[in-house]
Amino acid sequence: MNLALFASGNGSNVQAIIDAVKAGKIAGNIKCIVCDNSKAYVINRAKEAGIDTFILSPKDSPSRQAWELEIIKYLKAHKVDLIILAGFMRILGANLLNHYPKKIINIHPSLLPAFPGRQGIQDAYNAGVKESGVTIHYVDEGIDTGEIIAQKRLQIQPEWTLEELENNIHQIEHSLYPKVIQQLAKEFNEKGSNVK
Ligand code: GRF
Repeated sequence: MNLALFASGNGSNVQAIIDAVKAGKIAGNIKCIVCDNSKAYVINRAKEAGIDTFILSPKDSPSRQAWELEIIKYLKAHKVDLIILAGFMRILGANLLNHYPKKIINIHPSLLPAFPGRQGIQDAYNAGVKESGVTIHYVDEGIDTGEIIAQKRLQIQPEWTLEELENNIHQIEHSLYPKVIQQLAKEFNEKGSNVK
């Protein structure tokens, strides 16, 4: 299965996936990385791993649609089967979603449907909930609303700082995402597609 990773920032999840593929824990090939932010640290990780990277902000495209069509052209050239969003801070439009139905997944740092949006960890922390976690889901046109594939719960200790909560959430992400991707890769390799 050919994978594309989409990221906008640090890329610690991208790194966890790169490491899992290298260790033979995911039966797939990372064909490319798509990044919308030329200053993102994930670009260094991609270089270090020797992965082809496409960097384009929608602001540097004539339109959102043109930006999406450029990305689709790039993905097609790399024969991508599954798109993995890992800290990608843009909403995908109809073009990408229609080209890759049920072939785009995302990771979110809360137990969806609780705390969707950009600050899932901080929102859960500020709400004072006793439990949060990580969700992996298919991407649809909404914000963090697509069908849930997997979730892992985390009990929040009352003495934890926000930073401690963040560290615990990221630790779960880095082990859960590679496992779910491997599950999808296995299904894809058995059936020739990850579409149920
Ligand atoms: C992660 O917490 C992910 O769940 C969210 O954005 C963050 C990205 O972190 N969507 P990183 O860039 O993978 O380090």
